[in-house]
Amino acid sequence: MSSSSLFTFVCALSIAISFHSIAAGDNNLIPPRREVHANGRIFDITHQVVPEMPSFNSKDGLGEFLWLFRSMKNGSVANFSKFKLPVHTGTHVDAPGHFYDNYYDAGFDIDTLDLEVLNGPALLVDVPRDKNITAEVMKSLDIPRGVRRVLFRTLNTDRKLMFQKEFDSSNVGFMEDGAKWLAENTDIKLVGIDYLSAAAYVHSVPSHLVFLKSREIILVEGLKLDDVPAGIYSVRCLPLRLFGSEASPIRCILIK
Ligand SMILES: *[C@@H]1O[C@H](CO)[C@@H](O)[C@H](O)[C@H]1NC(C)=O
Ligand SMILES: *[C@@H]1O[C@H](CO)[C@@H](O)[C@H](O)[C@H]1NC(C)=O
Ligand SMILES: *[C@@H]1O[C@H](CO)[C@@H](O)[C@H](O)[C@H]1NC(C)=O
Repeated sequence: MSSSSLFTFVCALSIAISFHSIAAGDNNLIPPRREVHANGRIFDITHQVVPEMPSFNSKDGLGEFLWLFRSMKNGSVANFSKFKLPVHTGTHVDAPGHFYDNYYDAGFDIDTLDLEVLNGPALLVDVPRDKNITAEVMKSLDIPRGVRRVLFRTLNTDRKLMFQKEFDSSNVGFMEDGAKWLAENTDIKLVGIDYLSAAAYVHSVPSHLVFLKSREIILVEGLKLDDVPAGIYSVRCLPLRLFGSEASPIRCILIK
């Protein structure tokens, strides 16, 4: 990695977000928080961004990322917060420039990702819990040609790894031969997975290289696939248009 891509790997974004003031006088204001919307028809498969969530290769988790820049308690007319996050935080998407410096320099950033790949019919499948995703596992899943978007639920979900602060390098992910098998024998262009990396830790680099080489396969990592029945859905995933960035937090939902 060049120093410029290394810089962007750890690059943080700082965006101001503002909260509108709520009419005063309501004592029982209880905000709704739900994982399932529309009477069970819409599943939120995005993780909440919280300080205790894991961060790649870190023991300490994400840490504080949000602060009140202007506050009503301090005499401001409105609350006004800012945040700063690694672009690979929580549920996020990788662009080709993540592992290919020439793609990075040529500008294959998040803003160039095809929204058609990120939105459309998708299959949520359970993979065997006793293996990483090898060619043999891919073959056994028997995913028909024509299926273009697959979310792989693994042991990572059972182990609740996305809810543990300390990064766990024993995560299940693609081995290089599994990634190759997918790229060569299926029509899958959207690969979703339930931990911070689509790759098994020992094959972090080779698996990403296989996936990102064609610039046609998009990796969505850190999905929240708990309590969603396996099956066919419509997936909707929208990244932020972070110009020049090789990754972005993403909001993904599944619609029945
Ligand atoms: C933020 O705004 C609300 C009113 O919308 C106010 O009650 C609250 O005290 C403010 N919070 C802070 C930390 O200033
Ligand atoms: C309010 O202002 C004081 C003094 O400038 C500062 O120390 C404090 O952090 C501020 N609090 C908030 C919530 O902005
Ligand atoms: C997957 O690979 C990792 C190493 O990257 C290993 O620690 C883990 O035990 C493997 N998981 C399974 C279920 O075989």
